[in-house]
Amino acid sequence: MVAQSNRRDTIKMLGALGLLSACGTTAGAGVGGTTPSLSALAQKKGLRFGTAMAAHQLNDPRYVEIVLRECGALVAENEHKIYVILGQEDNWNFAPGDALASFASQNDLRMRGHTLIWSHPRWLPDWLNATTFSPSEAEAWLDMYIGRVAGRYNPQLYSWDVINEAIDADTGELRETPFTKAMGVDAITHSFFAAREAAPDATLVYNDYMSWEEGNEAHRGGVLKLLERLLKDGAPIDAFGIQSHSNYNMPDEFTPERQRAWRAFVDEAVGMGLDIYLTEFDVNDTRLGPDIAMRDRLIADYTKDYLDMMFSYGETKELLVWGMVDKYSWLQTFFPRTDDVEKRPTVYSSDYEPKLMRDAIAASLRSAATRTVG
Ligand code: XIL
Repeated sequence: MVAQSNRRDTIKMLGALGLLSACGTTAGAGVGGTTPSLSALAQKKGLRFGTAMAAHQLNDPRYVEIVLRECGALVAENEHKIYVILGQEDNWNFAPGDALASFASQNDLRMRGHTLIWSHPRWLPDWLNATTFSPSEAEAWLDMYIGRVAGRYNPQLYSWDVINEAIDADTGELRETPFTKAMGVDAITHSFFAAREAAPDATLVYNDYMSWEEGNEAHRGGVLKLLERLLKDGAPIDAFGIQSHSNYNMPDEFTPERQRAWRAFVDEAVGMGLDIYLTEFDVNDTRLGPDIAMRDRLIADYTKDYLDMMFSYGETKELLVWGMVDKYSWLQTFFPRTDDVEKRPTVYSSDYEPKLMRDAIAASLRSAATRTVG
């Protein structure tokens, strides 16, 4: 049983079952070897490399093997979110999040928390969206929930996305949730104070999906305004989480002009003294033709360009990808393709072979400057 053994035992056991892929050899046409691991390459530069993982993937030995071989850090894809933990009022469900946390600790993987408050009504449970709070009730509820969840995993989790996606991408304004309706922006600030109290040593992060893509100007502006406000109000925020999904533009649309605008945005965020965490990297190929070699090439080229830019900031401290194997990617169902071709948004193909994206990540890590660990 994978979750009961340590990393060395697990790898040995998978090897005996003949489930290990060819580490360090040429695994597929045009793809380099897989040693050193992405985590080892990252660590050499003061960075962390890791992935999102879902609890059901603990039952897939080939997925587990890739995670243990390549990653130094883990984040739960859904299991630490409020819609899992408290999807039903008064019915706490920690089992799936606990399973991932035990797997991480038994295998010497560091683990981040995602996310205490997803400040977006689409992702809050119906019962919570239907609740009306007074300002003091909202504050007490946030203290209770954040205290219980962040407290449960303290001190294991080294970092928390305290707030996810608080800014409306179209307007740049604060999204309305039961908490912001009651407290305005103080709901956000207060959540950071509550997280600091429950997890004093964790790095606390504001995480959002604004990107270099077309039509993101309002989102970027709104996020900068929010970060400024949080810092002005003394919120204990350590890092800015840039999710790094590319949802709408295709990988060959990261033009010099968009790169300049994106750099200006990141400059402003690091100018506020925040570290940068790349928290959910993947590459959407909704509108690329079906040819696999072409898609993999464009995705890898974009990956290299994007990561080179992001690692050029000494403030960038980690890269987490949103899944390691294509078939499990959320993008197979979100932003669907019009043909029924499988998407290729992650590092390994659905038959567990490393793709050109892996070479691109390795190359960016190799050329990154060394930074102080954060
Ligand atoms: C996604 C998960 O991957 C899906 O399984 C789930 O249905 C919805 O959420 N931004 C985030 C992540 O912050 O939590 C989202 O994860 C992807 C977008």
